[in-house]
Amino acid sequence: MQRILLDTDTGVDDALAIILALNSPELKVEAITSVSGNVHVDLCTRNLLMTLETMGIDEYPVCARGESQPLIKPLVTASHVHGLDGIGDATQLLRDDGSRLYPDPEPRLTAISAVDLIIDLVGQYPDELVLVPVGPLTNIAKAMIKHPARMRRVREIVLMGGAFETYGNVTTTAEFNIFADPHAAQLVLDFGVPVTMVPLDVTHQVMLTGKRLNAEIGERTDRLSQFLRDVTRATMGYHQDLEGFYGTYIHDALPIGLLTHPELFEIVEAFVQVETSSDLTQGMTIADLRPEKPRPKPNARVCVGVNAEAFLANFFDRIL
Ligand code: RIB
Ligand code: CA
Repeated sequence: MQRILLDTDTGVDDALAIILALNSPELKVEAITSVSGNVHVDLCTRNLLMTLETMGIDEYPVCARGESQPLIKPLVTASHVHGLDGIGDATQLLRDDGSRLYPDPEPRLTAISAVDLIIDLVGQYPDELVLVPVGPLTNIAKAMIKHPARMRRVREIVLMGGAFETYGNVTTTAEFNIFADPHAAQLVLDFGVPVTMVPLDVTHQVMLTGKRLNAEIGERTDRLSQFLRDVTRATMGYHQDLEGFYGTYIHDALPIGLLTHPELFEIVEAFVQVETSSDLTQGMTIADLRPEKPRPKPNARVCVGVNAEAFLANFFDRIL
């Protein structure tokens, strides 16, 4: 069993990652933290708690609110993909009596900040806790700045982010999580703790289509099934307009799958750098992944392949 801390900018696919992680017996989710990214951290925190409430779980992981601003850059959000509320505009849905289908959740938050919770939990589980950031890396970087000696005891960081042999999804060259806080990403890569990256090269191979979601949910009418339909509807429409397929990527669920089913993934070692200054290519992750090319000392493992169908089958088997 692996102890993890999930750091999220919930987000539609972050919500799916949370549901998958809490339905993975191989993982003990010690805590879930929030950070500004897809939308402002206050909304990400609300969405995180709303997801947990909809799951109706008995034992909540510790939840803490994180950083609202990237280390240096001004905040850039992705509400055009995830909805103004960050959760597919599901908070706009009303019952027949006019009440909200997804009311604001109970504020089940610990009093300390996400950065302090990360530092505390690494201290509680030295060389054991795995950090799984699936949003901008601001919280992780700030914890490393605040308590470097303690953060060296992180077992591994398994993150969703980057784009190597594929286009970016924010600019031609940059993936959103790295683009939103490139300075944090460079700091995390330079820090020296083992890093595994799950980039767009792999997450773009796993598409959750509306057709597949309907087929898997079938006649179910439970709260979670309704939630899955409601939070994915808007982003599926976005991809229909933009890319011509009615569906959505489930980027953030893949690092969870890598932890529970590593056999479904192909990984290479690489020396990864992040562009932090150029206006044109800021947030680009650069690495020479050609096997025949000698490379400087690797600083990360990069996921380059996935058995998409096996991953999706496991995903639905777990969450439903
Ligand atoms: O580029 C995809 C990433 O950006 C995902 O984590 C998604 O939630 C957004 O944060
Ligand atoms: Ca995310």
